[in-house]
Amino acid sequence: MDLSMKKNFLTDYKLEGEVLPIYTYPAPVLKKIAEPVTEFNQELHLLIKNMLYTMYHAPGIGLAAPQVGVSKRFFVLDIWFDREKVTLADGTEEYRLSQFQPMAFINPVFKNHSGEVIHEEGCLSVPGIYEDVKRAEFVSVEYQDPFGDKHQIEADELLSICLQHENDHLDGIVFIERLSLLKKQLLEKKFLKQMQKKK
Ligand code: NI
Repeated sequence: MDLSMKKNFLTDYKLEGEVLPIYTYPAPVLKKIAEPVTEFNQELHLLIKNMLYTMYHAPGIGLAAPQVGVSKRFFVLDIWFDREKVTLADGTEEYRLSQFQPMAFINPVFKNHSGEVIHEEGCLSVPGIYEDVKRAEFVSVEYQDPFGDKHQIEADELLSICLQHENDHLDGIVFIERLSLLKKQLLEKKFLKQMQKKK
């Protein structure tokens, strides 16, 4: 793999790929502890690209491999992209996405966390459900990039929350399981009823 290609893999992101089916709660794959990634190959890169495409398309700000049925320890995120509604000449509306800053975290390990923050979360695997979740305010995470190189990141605010939410997916946890049992059961019921109606 030549170096220029390596450098440009995520920074020159183009909105292209395949929309992957997103598994919804309570699919078994969402409850499994995912396996570490050992091969940093083209198959992984293609999956990352398609996961990003699926995430932007949804739209969402993060997507973990188990959510597309792959029980492996990695996720993608982008909390910075722009989504603008435009009205075309014929009066129809569409969304235009820009300012992509995709990131991919492979085999993440949380080293440190501190503080506490409460923020409303949602999840592409639990569509239509939003609830306040308590998380660490600051986190420090070691991870590998799509080529296996190691990095460390310190995060706060939305990035910290998103990293914790996505990492939970690798441990078989969806955000409603971070709530009190009562709240979880209420939301679970609401969600399943809502999914039933869609069928
Ligand atoms: Ni999620």
